[in-house]
Amino acid sequence: MEKLIIAPSVLSADFSKLGSEIAMLNESEAQWIHIDIMDGMFVPNISFGFPVLEAINKKSEKFLDVHLMIEKPDRYLTQFKDAGANLITVHYEACTHVHRTIQEIRSLGCQVGIAINPGTPVSVLNEVIDLIDLVLIMSVNPGFGGQEFILNSIQKTKEVKALAEKHGNKNIKIEIDGGVTDLNAHELISAGANVLVAGNFVFKSTNPKLTISDLLKLGE
Ligand code: DX5
Ligand code: ZN
Repeated sequence: MEKLIIAPSVLSADFSKLGSEIAMLNESEAQWIHIDIMDGMFVPNISFGFPVLEAINKKSEKFLDVHLMIEKPDRYLTQFKDAGANLITVHYEACTHVHRTIQEIRSLGCQVGIAINPGTPVSVLNEVIDLIDLVLIMSVNPGFGGQEFILNSIQKTKEVKALAEKHGNKNIKIEIDGGVTDLNAHELISAGANVLVAGNFVFKSTNPKLTISDLLKLGE
């Protein structure tokens, strides 16, 4: 298996000292930084937008994994790329023409991810799984950090892995987002997950850098 990737979610960071939170992540073993963009329409919460992403990009030495929880994300793809996104993940449920959106993200030179909500079956990915770099499985209903992990996400992870194999996409990344802790990480990795997002579990721990390296060890 490819090495496990840890993607701490800055949604759980202390925004009053964002610079030092990013510096801490730079020093950590996390390979990615997960950035949650919420529009108050697709999800019942608003997070932050381009100026904050640009500020993170200036300080970050890591790969920026941008998770768009916004309606009709096509409207803003170029701006997210310009603000520093390395990977852009859009929600299947938020795109009228998901195939076109995938092509547009690709044409910008970014990696492409598709996210599915807990209520969305894996089968919606049938026609596009061979075109994308990553599937993001929401293991909580999107909108907030610190929610409880939905157990069925483990079964869904296995289904995504099987579907990707069936379509010959062996290098696909399977990212789990929501409620990830040391209690479920191992089972998720065994099911096929290779990118773990962690918000509260990292930022609310007493030693975030150690929490990140301990999570990473579970993938060895
Ligand atoms: C939820 C976001 C997540 C969130 C995860 O809508 O997509 O990335 O920050 O936070 P935890 O790990 O605390 O559930
Ligand atoms: Zn997210």
